[in-house]
Amino acid sequence: MNRQLKPADISITLARALRRPGLLDSEDTAVVFYDLDLIASRISELKNAFPANTLHAVAIKANPLARILALLAEAGTGLEAATRPELFMALATGMPAERIVYDSPVKTGDDLKYALGAGVTVNLDSWEEVLMLERLAGRQPPAGPVGLRINPQVGAGSIADTSVATADSKFGVPLSDQRNRIVRAYRLYPWLTGVHLHIGSQGCSLEMMASGVAAVFDLVKQIESATGRQLSFFDIGGGLPVAYRRNETVPSVAEYANLLKQLCPGLFEGRYRLITEFGRYVHANAGWVASRVEAVKQLRNEKIAMIHVGADMFLRKCYRADQWHHEISVMEPDGSLKTGRDKSSYRVAGPLCFAGDILGKGISLPPVARDDYLVIHDAGAYTLSMWSRYNSRQLPKVIGYRENGKHFEILKKRETLQQVAAFWN
Ligand code: LLP
Repeated sequence: MNRQLKPADISITLARALRRPGLLDSEDTAVVFYDLDLIASRISELKNAFPANTLHAVAIKANPLARILALLAEAGTGLEAATRPELFMALATGMPAERIVYDSPVKTGDDLKYALGAGVTVNLDSWEEVLMLERLAGRQPPAGPVGLRINPQVGAGSIADTSVATADSKFGVPLSDQRNRIVRAYRLYPWLTGVHLHIGSQGCSLEMMASGVAAVFDLVKQIESATGRQLSFFDIGGGLPVAYRRNETVPSVAEYANLLKQLCPGLFEGRYRLITEFGRYVHANAGWVASRVEAVKQLRNEKIAMIHVGADMFLRKCYRADQWHHEISVMEPDGSLKTGRDKSSYRVAGPLCFAGDILGKGISLPPVARDDYLVIHDAGAYTLSMWSRYNSRQLPKVIGYRENGKHFEILKKRETLQQVAAFWN
């Protein structure tokens, strides 16, 4: 299945945004757009694929914009927080504690107290955290549900840096190597009431992800027979890959859920509160960036289009161009799509003071001119959230839209010079 936004639809939206009085000004050299209808439809897909009582705790790290978190809360999802500030932000949206999951890979005693005090679901990541909770809990059971992150050790996907379930991954406790210790812990601590795993991210196959869930489901059966009690929640994490290349087909969440149902039917019988933590699947295809072209340099072998966004927002793409990809389209100054047959090879360069600030090399594009817009597609996840402060660039304005731009709302204003300066105070 492929559900990326089409350049022609994006062009309609950009043209409408450029015409809308007061929405953009000359200093909006690069602007991030989110199709809010697409995010809503991904949420519906999640809800339809899994049992009705599943908590879809959307990963904040993929897209932490406060207005988007609020929209997710309204749509009935939960939120997954990877750090204390993310947890703080989740609570600040007004999201009820029972819909928040706290998964930081390194928690202090204070972090644990804060999370347990708030009553959110906490997934412990290491034996040190288990012991910390033992000390904190004493005879007093924690307020919220507590799970342990299990690394099912299913190996790496095609992108090593973001594969988290390898034999030696830094995340969680390793299942095959420490199975007995894990079962003993559930026997010892009645407050351990759930399990958590996460395999991902981009570059992992459905089969690999589902086999990890099945391995942990097997463990749960063993824990239940060893302890004589039933666990209350099963958190399968996120990690579903999305399409970045034009016409790339990727699995849908319904296919993933069906495969899980085949492999572990017991997960879908209502005995456990299922939790998912998808991030990329919800956001990646809904976001795109339009940057004005400031200059086009004709060099010896290639032309370079100089734009206003680069390795500040696209860290993975710029630093690991071999592993990550974004399609790029060209639009006229009024937003209309350039499709000409007379394409030539371009390098697309960002504004930062280092030579590696390159969004793409050898990209075949219609003629690019100053004041055109380059649109970088599928930029909704792990882009703005990974913003780099190098060269102190202003975070761009972020605009949400519905119905191809019949309705716009500013999700976040462009950062001011004062705000950038304040960051370094
Ligand atoms: N849950 C946990 C515990 C995670 O660590 C993550 C992502 C998610 C959920 C959400 O996974 P998703 O559904 O978005 O794949 N492009 C980034 C990827 C890092 C993903 C980290 N964890 C990067 O390059 O660092």
